[in-house]
Amino acid sequence: MLFKILVILHTLGATVWTGGHLVLAATVLPQALKHRDPDRIHQFESHFENFGLAALLLQVITGLGLTWIYFPGLETFWAFDSFLSTYIGIKLLLLLGTLALAIHARFFIIPNLTSETLNSLAFHIVGVTTLAVLFVIMGAGIRLGGLT
Ligand code: HEM
Repeated sequence: MLFKILVILHTLGATVWTGGHLVLAATVLPQALKHRDPDRIHQFESHFENFGLAALLLQVITGLGLTWIYFPGLETFWAFDSFLSTYIGIKLLLLLGTLALAIHARFFIIPNLTSETLNSLAFHIVGVTTLAVLFVIMGAGIRLGGLT
């Protein structure tokens, strides 16, 4: 039962994190670039930031919970002798990449956002969104017993 609840919460969090970034990258960002108007991104961020971060935190907690159920005590996880630990390992790398991009954007780019620095924020948004989609692909791969 706990496993089923974790999968449902994990899937729900994925809709928010990945869906939110797809909306940002595919609808808000092109408009902001077209009008060279960083405020459009600020406006989206002001609504999405806390909700999105809560969703990411939920992903990490439920993801680690699911991992713990598959690999109790993580004893056999580090052997990386199954597709499951490889896929989860890739998800952890995606998480590191996401955190690096998000921290860089939040503390170094967004505070000084102007129409000139908009392009570097655009690269970050496209990067985080790509990683978010890869999270879903790897997650679905786990459910499908591998993607190949
Ligand atoms: C934003 C981050 C993440 C997203 C968008 C995401 C997305 C997904 C999706 C869509 C699934 C398929 C659910 C299903 O149909 O069963 C999944 C499964 C899974 N994810 Fe994630 N995930 C994220 C982060 C993580 C993290 C950080 C971990 C663990 C370290 C993790 C571990 C797992 C595991 C173990 C499954 C398999 C559950 C099952 O048996 O179906 N995920 N993920």
